[in-house]
Amino acid sequence: MSSSKLPASEVSKAGENRTRSEFPAVSHAAARRQSAQRRRSFRYRFPRDDRALGGKYSVADNSRILLRFFYLERRLSQALGAWTLAIPEFEVKLETGRHLFYHADAAKLLRERLHEQELTLAKIDAFRDQSIDDFIEELLSAADVAELLVGIHQVVGRALATAYRHHIDDTDSVTDAPTIRMLRRILLDYEPMLTWADDAVAAYVEGGIDESRLAQWRWHVARLLQSIGGATGDVPTCPPPAPLRHQQRPFQRCTSPQRDERFVTFANTGDYDTADGTPRFPSSSYESLRLRFLRTQRDEVDAIEAFGTFLWDIRFQDFQAEYDLARITWDETRHTETGHRALLAAGYDPFELPNRLTGSTCRGPMEPAFAMAEINLFGEVGVLKTIGGLIDEAEERRDDLLYHVADFIRADERTHVRKGRHIIRVMTDLGSQELELRTRELFTECLVSLGVVKLDMDVFTVSREDIEHLVGE
Ligand SMILES: [Fe+2]
Ligand SMILES: [Fe+2]
Repeated sequence: MSSSKLPASEVSKAGENRTRSEFPAVSHAAARRQSAQRRRSFRYRFPRDDRALGGKYSVADNSRILLRFFYLERRLSQALGAWTLAIPEFEVKLETGRHLFYHADAAKLLRERLHEQELTLAKIDAFRDQSIDDFIEELLSAADVAELLVGIHQVVGRALATAYRHHIDDTDSVTDAPTIRMLRRILLDYEPMLTWADDAVAAYVEGGIDESRLAQWRWHVARLLQSIGGATGDVPTCPPPAPLRHQQRPFQRCTSPQRDERFVTFANTGDYDTADGTPRFPSSSYESLRLRFLRTQRDEVDAIEAFGTFLWDIRFQDFQAEYDLARITWDETRHTETGHRALLAAGYDPFELPNRLTGSTCRGPMEPAFAMAEINLFGEVGVLKTIGGLIDEAEERRDDLLYHVADFIRADERTHVRKGRHIIRVMTDLGSQELELRTRELFTECLVSLGVVKLDMDVFTVSREDIEHLVGE
């Protein structure tokens, strides 16, 4: 039945007797009765979806707020990368390698959502905020690792988690559901990260770090965050605290790898047998290669430092390269954890085995392109040359432990070699031959200065194979 044939009395206008709408609904009474009847007789009572339309934000509001979240996440990932060399405590270095990926992954999810909210990727990637940059510089000026954790996790991490929960509550749960789902996924990483950070700060305090110093720093950083409008930018501001450390002394990243006192370290050789003095197994026996592999994995604590530092050094050059570096850093965290656990499972106290610092000592102060060429083109490619044979031999000898860990590590290292190509292109315009030669020259200089190799010719550059052996990954 068409509306023109209905009597006027049967046409009801929604909104009559209430605030007059300019857009009345023209509902046909008969059709409405029939639809009610059909709904009553429909057999299935599915769960009711009670989400309501509304919410506080337009697309423009959403993209303004999410862009600030994106920028904070991107900067936190870079900032943690800047500290990877400087953190002595093993557990904290590992968690930091994981957390910097959590922040990079949050940035990636936000970036994708922003792109769906009418912003171009070029505009998102080019976004900068000077007041956030100043805030990050102050976080980086932490006096020690405990202060770093206080600023990064207990102040801005917690503020972001709260802001995400509020945004989830405040935005439209129907029209903006992808934003809600994305923020919930980010919070899945935040919950264990912030809990761990609270426990870690408590451990520092119990171990003798002055709690009042940390409380002072927490107050200082929290006031500075409020002075720039908080995580959302909408918090009523206060004057910034003074003085600011980064204004007195600009932040510079550490260049030498730090270890806690449980480790014995060496950098005068790249060879474990030489470092040990008394070799544990006949060289080139399966047992020797096996232990060398497991130790190398544990000693990839230096790869966390390498890739984390690259993330800082090449910040803002290319988002995908930053993201890949953050992910590789997390992978190297897992290799270190895997190595540590595998050494235990093989019957060792991992701390009885001296930790090789040769590679990280050379890479620490180096330009990222050459340090990256060493660890990626020599180290990771070098691992792939030998790992297949080791896995085959482990299988033959029914060495389940080595087989299991090497199987996963091989897959990761192949992925790193693949991702490395793009990262190196972002880092340098040098051709591969020139890059390799310059890298070998720089490592020769470094290895000579450490006493790893002797300079006994006028013109001498260590070979690619030497670097693979002496520096490893
Ligand atoms: Fe690795
Ligand atoms: Fe790797």
